[in-house]
Amino acid sequence: MDTRTKIAGVELDSYVLNASGVRDTTLEELEAIAKSDSSAIVMKSCTIEPRKGNPEPRYMRLQLGSIQSMGLPNLGYKEYVIFSSQLKKYNKPIIASVAGSCADDYREMVSAFQDSDVDLIEVNLSCPNLEGKTLAYDFEQTGEILRAISDLGDKPYGLKLPPYPDVYHIQVAELIEKHGVSFITLINSIGSSLIIDSETEKPVIKPRGGFGGLCGDYIKPIALGNVRAFYELLKNEVSIFGVGGIKSGTDAFEFLLAGADAIQVATTFEKQGPSCFGRINKELIEILERKGYNSTQKVKGNLKYL
Ligand code: DHB
Repeated sequence: MDTRTKIAGVELDSYVLNASGVRDTTLEELEAIAKSDSSAIVMKSCTIEPRKGNPEPRYMRLQLGSIQSMGLPNLGYKEYVIFSSQLKKYNKPIIASVAGSCADDYREMVSAFQDSDVDLIEVNLSCPNLEGKTLAYDFEQTGEILRAISDLGDKPYGLKLPPYPDVYHIQVAELIEKHGVSFITLINSIGSSLIIDSETEKPVIKPRGGFGGLCGDYIKPIALGNVRAFYELLKNEVSIFGVGGIKSGTDAFEFLLAGADAIQVATTFEKQGPSCFGRINKELIEILERKGYNSTQKVKGNLKYL
């Protein structure tokens, strides 16, 4: 079974890898990903300066997923530039993730990663847990950031995006095409979600009055809808990572039908640890074999209609 795939020309050995944000902040955690069956090493979204993140509790497992308001705890981008050279020996694509608060931040970080050992740069415009707005919902600021990073080097860069309702899909696709974005990662956790414990009459996480990003099963249909919509609009010219509620080979197969070039796993990785990547990949291969397909590429985007 050929499960190789490409994101922006970078070859991945399998369809399954880790998503930014889970167990990927320290070198030790990143080495565990390197040694796992994840087909790439995606690093925690980093900022200009190191951050401790939000007060705890800031992550809560839920029956059908999780809610989080981590607040970008990370070691600062310079550390991840160093990590990229230390991780190179594992011979797996390395993906940086950058999260700034203005165009200058993005320019500084993307420029540093252009001169590093990473293979791809994921520009996170959708962290829902900071004061102020989610950047990717402000199209003027998104355009400004894209103009600031587009001329910094040859490594492909992509955008990590929040879910959009249909009225914005065309506008976002135009921004992506206009600014040479090579891949998109859909979707980030759904911000401004609130889980309330009716016994305690309190939210389950502390930061920002309990608002956080919703992850897991709850968001899978929304992620699939966004993958499909952007797949149709971008016609294979921009690679797509699907993220959101993938815990089995069946989930991965659904993202493949919708048009994702590869999938990233977050909540399930947090709950089950690094063995989840091999398991999901094995389950995906079993489904493909049972259906008589011999590669993921033949199935990609081939959703049938009723
Ligand atoms: C955090 C959460 C996100 O969903 C994200 O994209 C980046 C950072 C966080 O709170 O750390």
